[in-house]
Amino acid sequence: MASTLITNIGELVTNGPAGDGSAGDGSARDGFVGEHLVPDRPVGDDPAGDRLLGIVRDAALVVEGSRVAWVGRADEAPAADEVVDAAGRAVLPGFVDSHSHLVFAGDRAREFAARMAGQPYAAGGIRTTVAATRAATDEQLTAHVARLVQEMLRQGTTTVEIKSGYGLTVHDEARSLAVARQFTDETTFLGAHVVPAEYAGDPDGYVDLVTGPMLEAAAPYARWVDAFCEDGAFDADQARAVLEAGAAHGLAGRLHASQLGPGPGVRLAAELGLAAVDHCTYLTDADVDALRDSRTVATLLPGVEFSTRHPYPDARKLIDAGVHVALASDCNPGSSFTSSVPLCIALAVREMGMTPAEAVHAATYGGARALRRDDVGRLTVGARADLVLLDAPSHVHLAYRPGVPLVAGTWLGGRPAWPV
Ligand code: NIG
Ligand code: FE
Repeated sequence: MASTLITNIGELVTNGPAGDGSAGDGSARDGFVGEHLVPDRPVGDDPAGDRLLGIVRDAALVVEGSRVAWVGRADEAPAADEVVDAAGRAVLPGFVDSHSHLVFAGDRAREFAARMAGQPYAAGGIRTTVAATRAATDEQLTAHVARLVQEMLRQGTTTVEIKSGYGLTVHDEARSLAVARQFTDETTFLGAHVVPAEYAGDPDGYVDLVTGPMLEAAAPYARWVDAFCEDGAFDADQARAVLEAGAAHGLAGRLHASQLGPGPGVRLAAELGLAAVDHCTYLTDADVDALRDSRTVATLLPGVEFSTRHPYPDARKLIDAGVHVALASDCNPGSSFTSSVPLCIALAVREMGMTPAEAVHAATYGGARALRRDDVGRLTVGARADLVLLDAPSHVHLAYRPGVPLVAGTWLGGRPAWPV
């Protein structure tokens, strides 16, 4: 198998077991070489951050096939078929964007401009995109998703979750997921996004459709099931019905909750042991307690608060309570039309009380946890060689230099994917 040595890495973020102690399991942990290096090496100004990220300085990494085969100090690196010189720059695991809605047509720039002039965000705007999406061809939808996935890759995202939710008919939800499946295995059935106009007088009839024929048609293309549990969308009983029907079809659950105000969704997600509950903008103390006592990841989506002028969620409170946190883009045409995880990292640091290390951890390791994946979001032996080379010496620059395109290269499964 061909091997590549990436050497002269000024700062290597591994998210290895020198991190939060639960990183890596099985073979990845057993084969990890960098762990013992961290205490011996000079650390930066944030030793806790260095530990969290499992940072190795003056590092090297060997890729064999699609996997990481060796991690350690550059001066101890084994030989390989090919050598790449990182020139002292930082290498990170590729971002794991665990929440996006890329299958849509049209845009809602006018709605955004109206919001910036004082109009509130309303869930009902989703119906505008539903009409445009239904009118688009499969080819148009596929080309649009391809463009956005490429945009993400250029900004360091190597794993993306993609939801349906702008079709809202049996046919349009199934084809949305078939389109998404061409780009990722992390596909999510979100028929319960909003009640479409034609069911306005019969929301329970729509839930019957979602949990019946729509789920039947969507399930072959989906790994996950989701619902928007919020005033103006679906209540807790309806969300529970959708999640339970999805589980009966083999789909694991995740939930949109507490985006626009406090509600029951976060506690429902914790009670059902879902992989993740997303938004978490308006949390009560009971929500935080429920999350702390569960394995459910709180996925924070600061692009939404940026684009809707809602207050940012309090990440500091969640982290201090011991809740697992992820950061994702929520890329969609209504509430957050950004594909940029680096922007989300910068916002999380500036507006949500996270340190740069915590934000990077949440956008890599946290995203992987939110997708229940242990092969991505880390650069330990055995992990997928999905990695980002920054045009900067440290992960801190992702927040320190907001808005600057710092991704010099992205590798997918051991191969350069951007620039090719
Ligand atoms: O995650 N919250 C529900 N769904 C999307 C918004 C969709 C839209 O406005 O089109 C979200 O923010
Ligand atoms: Fe969303």
